Amino acid sequence: MQRRDFIKYSAALGAISALPGWSKAAFAATPQTLPIPALLTPDAQSRITLRVQAGTSTFAGKNATTWGYNGNLLGPAIKLRKGKTVTVEINNRLAEETTIHWHGLEVPGEVDGGPQGIIKPGSQRTVTFTPNQRTATCWFHPHQHAKTGHQVAMGLAGLLLIEDDESRMLRLPQQWGVDDVPVIVQDKRFNTDGQIDYQLDVMSAAVGWFGDTLLANGVIYPRHAAPRGWLRLRLLNGCNARSLNFTTSDKRPLYVIASDGGLLAEPVKVDALPMLPGERFEVLVDTRDGKDFDLVTLPVSQMGMAVAPFDKPQPVLHIQPLTIVASGELPDTLATMPPLPSLDGLTQRTLQLSMDPMLDMMGMQALMKKYGDGAMRGMDHGSMDHGSMNHGGMNHGGQGVDFHHGNMINGKAFDMNTPAFAAAKGQYERWVISGEGDMMLHPFHIHGTQFRILSENGKPPAAHRAGWKDIVNVFGARSEVLVKFDYDAPKAQAYMAHCHLLEHEDTGMMLGFTV
Ligand code: C2O
Ligand code: CU
Repeated sequence: MQRRDFIKYSAALGAISALPGWSKAAFAATPQTLPIPALLTPDAQSRITLRVQAGTSTFAGKNATTWGYNGNLLGPAIKLRKGKTVTVEINNRLAEETTIHWHGLEVPGEVDGGPQGIIKPGSQRTVTFTPNQRTATCWFHPHQHAKTGHQVAMGLAGLLLIEDDESRMLRLPQQWGVDDVPVIVQDKRFNTDGQIDYQLDVMSAAVGWFGDTLLANGVIYPRHAAPRGWLRLRLLNGCNARSLNFTTSDKRPLYVIASDGGLLAEPVKVDALPMLPGERFEVLVDTRDGKDFDLVTLPVSQMGMAVAPFDKPQPVLHIQPLTIVASGELPDTLATMPPLPSLDGLTQRTLQLSMDPMLDMMGMQALMKKYGDGAMRGMDHGSMDHGSMNHGGMNHGGQGVDFHHGNMINGKAFDMNTPAFAAAKGQYERWVISGEGDMMLHPFHIHGTQFRILSENGKPPAAHRAGWKDIVNVFGARSEVLVKFDYDAPKAQAYMAHCHLLEHEDTGMMLGFTV
């Protein structure tokens, strides 16, 4: 072998073996290109029309019934200008009730689309609002109480982008679907007929619904060809319950430029980017070397989530740089982040998250019965005694526990008619969200605000989590956020605060509050 060939060969091997356990098979040519959601902007009358509809999609060669907005699966990316009023007409063509919640938008309670914003089958609802927040990648999805998990799993989710003037001055990559690429990542499970296999039951109420197939914009391991240079990925973890941990197959870094609610002060370079269900991060990746690589998700420590194939890194998206050169840049500074206000004298509220111990035990039992001990890999579950769970009186097979109300905040499962408290409009409040006492992941989301994280699981937030956020990680400890609500949310249109693990939300880990 010529020395030159040897270097080429070993460099290629090096890339493949950069991740432990990374298989060459993952690099096999993937046939499908990444579908890009169409941009939907308001028409001349400042109107947007959405249809919630059923359709058919093909996964691994089999047809499945799926739901989408204006299409068969997922939805368009709605693009709005800060300060420009828009009217959205929503037509529900499903055979069941739904709502559309604007996740991350600071809009009044009557527009918010929480569980009270019900649209009956065959009917429509029109909302008008003016986004007045900074540039951000938000999203929209159903919020029908006790049905959110199912409706999202069926395919209902879309992106909503807000643009302001300052962000347009930055020379970030901004050719939609070329070097500014939305990536909605979701896991799904299919039955033997190829249909989406969703259940809300004791096991999913405890640990969440999760699948064995990872999709990027609705496709299994697609590829995207991009101009060589800086590539911007707008990542959404759209999973019902699975946290993801993104990295690249050849260890090239990700430069985080934005979190849920807007640009960071400056880019933050990371080797791996954990993302909770519901979270968005925008990252820039340098593809100037022209080499192909994969966006990958690494195994995570979360109850149930280490089940194969997720006990190993999984490819999400194959990226192929083209010879043409991209024009976007990675700026040194991105946005001004106001300093945190003084915390003295702020109203403080504590939200204690909890699960009915019977549900916890039966959920674990069902999980281990279905997937074995591997489901617990990486979890510190020393307090659990497998023996006692599998023997004696505990083996009820899930009967006798009211899992529909098995998850709680401050000891109560969600009650749509009784808001838990009234927040004062325009005032900062300090909310302490506690997951002390369980080992479950709770990606906690608050409507009507973009907040700042003061502490996350007892620690200061990581640099890329210190900007505008609407989800905070609560995992066996306490997290504190600084919230402020600038719009009204009266009793009949209260805002929601809830766990964004959708099966926890659907089984009670949610409260309403007024402003
Ligand atoms: Cu993304 Cu209350 O939800
Ligand atoms: Cu939860």
